[in-house]
Amino acid sequence: MSQYQAVKGTRDIFPEEVTRWKHIEGVVHSLASMFGFSEIRTPVFEYTELFQRGIGATTDIVGKEMFTFLPDPTGRSLTLRPEMTAGVMRAALQKNLLSMAPVHKLYYISELFRKERPQAGRQRQFSQFGAELIGVSTPAAVAEVITLMMQVFESLGVRGLKLRLNTLGGSEERLRYRDALQGYFAPFHAVLDEASKERLEKNPLRILDSKNPDMQEIVAGAPRLYDYLTASSVEDFEKVLFYLRERGIGYEIDHRLVRGLDYYCNTAFEVTSSELGAQDAIGGGGRYDGLAKEFGSSSDVPASGFAVGMERLLITMEKQGLFAALDSRGPLVYVIVQTLELGDHGLQIAYRLRKAGIKTEIDLAARSMKAQMREANRIRASYALFIGATEVETGLYALKNLVTSEQTTLSLDAVIEILREPAAKELMQ
Ligand code: HAM
Repeated sequence: MSQYQAVKGTRDIFPEEVTRWKHIEGVVHSLASMFGFSEIRTPVFEYTELFQRGIGATTDIVGKEMFTFLPDPTGRSLTLRPEMTAGVMRAALQKNLLSMAPVHKLYYISELFRKERPQAGRQRQFSQFGAELIGVSTPAAVAEVITLMMQVFESLGVRGLKLRLNTLGGSEERLRYRDALQGYFAPFHAVLDEASKERLEKNPLRILDSKNPDMQEIVAGAPRLYDYLTASSVEDFEKVLFYLRERGIGYEIDHRLVRGLDYYCNTAFEVTSSELGAQDAIGGGGRYDGLAKEFGSSSDVPASGFAVGMERLLITMEKQGLFAALDSRGPLVYVIVQTLELGDHGLQIAYRLRKAGIKTEIDLAARSMKAQMREANRIRASYALFIGATEVETGLYALKNLVTSEQTTLSLDAVIEILREPAAKELMQ
């Protein structure tokens, strides 16, 4: 027992679970690359203003959830990144990527930090995989990021997800809508909850996102942004939906979907999982053409992207039994020595097997043969290779398939041959 515990809202990931993470990460890397995205890694902390400007000063993330610190009394305030989009856009602008090529497709698997109240599926340190497509935000581009995200879910076998989309229009349309919302909510001022009162002045769109049941009736009667959109905004959104239908990606339109970050324009989306409790959002994203301007760019930089919460994806996949095959994977062969004196010979055999590329395990604590057998079964080895005095003398070893219990006697070269066969490797998959 240690007198120290992991900090509230953080957790350790032990080897068995790391296997699950790697499985997901493998799918993300291969699909992202199939879609032409390249990996980017940005610093874990940035200047605080980056997030204030990028995500929006009135959002919950910036207002309440950032881990902010001063490196020294004279230094500029720094913040542990609560999301990736702002940092990736900062990096792209800093490097002047768009002068090198018109479009950049970047993806990441990264750790993030938000000072939220920890609960199931909500941590203070968590991870996301995500992608940002910078330089173009046509409906084809937006549909591409959504398709990549949905294809990751599909490849992993995740079921029961719901993709909801909304269009937030352009900045002018949102301004007109904002006025309309303020006009609508003003007469309700006395009955609005505190959070909504605060939002009414600064960011009335966020009132629509209120989770307070008492607010639902008022919110339900609010004007819809959709009715304030220009024909071209509607057309843009319809085209994104068209691509999704063409690809057989199911979706729902949710006119009240407002994301918790201010940089979005036009298409915004969220995916929820029925396996999660209150924190049911597994991923989300959208288009954010105006973000670059917040960082000092002279004009908009068309862009869109998404991020998926790794922990929430893991919870969903666990509940759906999607790791069963993965969990049964052990080393291919366990080398078992019959007597203590044969220990060194066993080690040499294990060395040769590993040199031949075969996943091998062997006891290092001079335990009894029975204990070695138990261990081979516990770690789910597919084969056991027995080393006894006769074996050493004849150079022929007993190889037992622990799945079928079949046993054969073979030279070490023949053992290597068999264990290298695709069929044997498959046992490990
Ligand atoms: P977000 O909706 O804030 O979007 O986060 C995306 C996902 O990260 C959520 O759906 C959730 O699964 C996961 N997540 C968020 N907070 C936590 C937490 N405290 N604990 C565990 N998981 C969490 C963004 O971050 C945007 N940057 C997405 C984006 C990319 N938009 C455009 N490009």
